[in-house]
Amino acid sequence: MTSAGRGKEGRKDEIAELARRRGFLWQAFEIYGGAAGFYDYGPLGAQLKRRIEEVWRDFYTRERFYEIETTNIVSREIFEASGHLESFADQAVVCKHCKSFFRVGENVNVSEKCPECGGELEAAGEFNLMFQTGIGVQKGESDERTQKKSEGYLRPETAQGIFLNFQRLLRFNRGKLPFGIIQIGKAYRNEISPRKSLIRLREFTMGEAEVFVDPREKNNHPRFEYVKDRMLRLVPAGEGEEEEKSVGEAVRSGIIANEYLGYHISKVGEFLERIGIPRDKLRFRQHRREEMAHYARDCWDAEFLSERYGWMEIVGVADRGDYDLSAHTSFSNVNMSVHAQGDAQGEAEPEKIIPHVIEPSYGIDRIFYALLESSLYEEQVGKEKRKVLRLKSEIAPIKAAVFPLLNRDELKKKAEEVFQKLRAASIFVEYDDSGSIGRRYRRQDEIGTPYCVTIDYETLEDDTVTIRERDTMKQVRVPMVEIKDVLA
Ligand code: GLY
Repeated sequence: MTSAGRGKEGRKDEIAELARRRGFLWQAFEIYGGAAGFYDYGPLGAQLKRRIEEVWRDFYTRERFYEIETTNIVSREIFEASGHLESFADQAVVCKHCKSFFRVGENVNVSEKCPECGGELEAAGEFNLMFQTGIGVQKGESDERTQKKSEGYLRPETAQGIFLNFQRLLRFNRGKLPFGIIQIGKAYRNEISPRKSLIRLREFTMGEAEVFVDPREKNNHPRFEYVKDRMLRLVPAGEGEEEEKSVGEAVRSGIIANEYLGYHISKVGEFLERIGIPRDKLRFRQHRREEMAHYARDCWDAEFLSERYGWMEIVGVADRGDYDLSAHTSFSNVNMSVHAQGDAQGEAEPEKIIPHVIEPSYGIDRIFYALLESSLYEEQVGKEKRKVLRLKSEIAPIKAAVFPLLNRDELKKKAEEVFQKLRAASIFVEYDDSGSIGRRYRRQDEIGTPYCVTIDYETLEDDTVTIRERDTMKQVRVPMVEIKDVLA
């Protein structure tokens, strides 16, 4: 077995080509020439993405988080308070010759030549990354408050919607800390020059979890015991070398600042492995002070080692401290403090505290890309090559394909029956009777379908079918009534 990579460029083209041809990912507004940083998910891509989101939801709701859904359009005041209006910006440079803009740091530095035409670059200042929009009819004459209310922004993170509802959420949780809330949805950033497929998008999906905790309890996570032995590859900021450590040891030795942060870093690792990110392509890197977001006091990125892009962030786990709740308290004049009972030592004196927030924030589109890249293999089967997408069956867009062995009416009828029964049992199967059986297997391999169920003349006699498994290509003969169990 060999990985499909043939050098960085080859690998990228192969994934983009497969994603396009098989209906995973298409350039948005393609018939009008497309636009950088915007992609549409085709039928299989939408299905795969939905599966990732469903497993994510399941993962966090098992951790007792509740999910909420807040608005994509948010009025100006909120981002004044959150600091995004002032600080959510990137530095840009522009080419004096071809006038292309680039983001400083990632694409180029000021001292370099233009990557497009080799021209001279010059600093072009700071660009705020939020998309601005108007809310309602824009009146000419209005006071400052009304003007602010009619100025909207597409949210650059889903988190603010959770912070804005903090008081109601606290009440929903019967006034007690800690508790966790998740939200999954679109976020928008007007990136200066997105050039990297799904890695830097202008419209993308985030899965965010916000954990509200009494700051005095950050070293006292009730379930830390269950994660403490998980081994992590850690790259601390500063002089430290990359090291493999258990979460327990990393917290004990102060590499990870507290148990809550450690617990959630560990959970991120668990989720990513569950959906199929290979352990040897995953590490956790701590942000240096100068790369930290304006609201963060500490942050660890889960990074995936891409053949094309090198180490890339797929999840960020930030300690936002009391930044957001304090900011919204002072801007809205609504008090977001909590009457907390006692302290870590158990004293009974009620005290007012502002909760701290630990935030694992997942880039769903980047995870989607990482899964495609790390699952695609090319291998020799006899004289032929086959491409196979070794996606975990829990997230594969199609669970099984049902084929009649030959294009004959009696086999097609039986295959159709099996297809309908499996669909009725909520198993997402596909029916295919076009081309040779070999070609049909290859197509399913390439889109990651874990099983193919074939109906032949023996089926008509004894109600058995063959089930072929994608990775081993082994076939077993099973009674039709057992298909569901075998697939499960
Ligand atoms: N909420 C995390 C982020 O905006 O990246």
